[in-house]
Amino acid sequence: MAGASAGTEARLSFERLIAARSRSIDASGIRKVFDLGAKLKDPINLSIGQPDFAVPEPMRAAASHAVLENRSGYSVTQGIPELHAAIWAHLAEDVGWKGPSAELGCAVTSGTSGGLLLGLMAVCDAGDEFIAPDPYFVMYPQMAKMLGAKCVLCDTYPDFRMTAERVEPLITPRTKAVLVNSPSNPCGTVMTGAELRDLVDLCRARGVLLVSDEIYDEFCFPDARESGRCPSSARYTQDCLLIRGFGKTYGCTGWRLGYAAGPMPIIQEICKLQQYSFVCAPTPLQWGVMPSFDCDLSPQIAEYARRRDLVVKAFEGVAEVARPGGAFYAFVQVPRQLGLTATQFVEKAIERRVLVIPGNVFSQRDTHFRLSFATNPSKLEEGLSILRELMSA
Ligand SMILES: Cc1ncc(COP(=O)(O)O)c(C=O)c1O
Repeated sequence: MAGASAGTEARLSFERLIAARSRSIDASGIRKVFDLGAKLKDPINLSIGQPDFAVPEPMRAAASHAVLENRSGYSVTQGIPELHAAIWAHLAEDVGWKGPSAELGCAVTSGTSGGLLLGLMAVCDAGDEFIAPDPYFVMYPQMAKMLGAKCVLCDTYPDFRMTAERVEPLITPRTKAVLVNSPSNPCGTVMTGAELRDLVDLCRARGVLLVSDEIYDEFCFPDARESGRCPSSARYTQDCLLIRGFGKTYGCTGWRLGYAAGPMPIIQEICKLQQYSFVCAPTPLQWGVMPSFDCDLSPQIAEYARRRDLVVKAFEGVAEVARPGGAFYAFVQVPRQLGLTATQFVEKAIERRVLVIPGNVFSQRDTHFRLSFATNPSKLEEGLSILRELMSA
């Protein structure tokens, strides 16, 4: 540092250094709402994307035990064998996959996001395309920018169902993958088994990979279940990439744990990419999620179904809302007669302390807003009555 002391040296031109890839990515619109909300006194926060219950005690105990036992080093890239055994037992019981085998593999990833990103990295070259629903989980189009790929959006308004019929015309020779999300964020849509089977058949016929983001699979309400289970693409094929997670299901989003399971050739690539990026998922927390499959979430799911009913009822006769079958979101249409975009409506809601997220954060359109019911029921009721009031104005 000859000739310059800290604080006075000539600064680097960081602007010049920032890659176009990074510049092309917008800061999440959700963050903008959070920042606005942080300034509010006593906000009614209906924007939260994580469950409002405590992580089940056996999981907290297992995570603490792993830390105390100093199981804190790297794990093998694909994840600890004991967790793999638990995942395979669960998948055998849930979707009938008998792994691991020469055909089927699994990688424990840093969150569901880790599985999605590495999965798409494994199949998409620059210029390749993948198809994703609109409305979408915020990460989907941004992943395309990270990969230099193109995210082709499948318009699913007004019922938010990404059917084979809607997807088929979007497939081109550059399409590598179709990304389906059920139960969905931001709409709570649960596809039927028949709809998923049609997508599976379409993808097989056109030689593209179906990537099934099932992060909310446990949050499937009784009326959207089929034979007591959440519909899953994996029941119709072993050739899809199944992405699941622990964060939303068990209230441990900060643990960053998920997994990708599916065709071995794809899983091998995911593991290779993980080795040189995330290295492995957090080891003590891999031990922490091990008891998860034995935790009974039915009381929590029943409570969320009750809140879902509350939300649907609150907007009856006031605004259109597709009845959510799962997750903990509703995507509510701003009544046309108000003559407001969703962003304008959300600004009015925030003036009344209610935080919801405008639809253009999740969509090409700005006609709806996302409301999360993963919040204290009395706050939820208060927020719903303010929103209803704003709509009837
Ligand atoms: C549909 C969907 N997929 C993936 C993720 C990412 O989850 P994770 O926190 O496990 O990375 C989210 C989180 O909001 C989501 O809503």
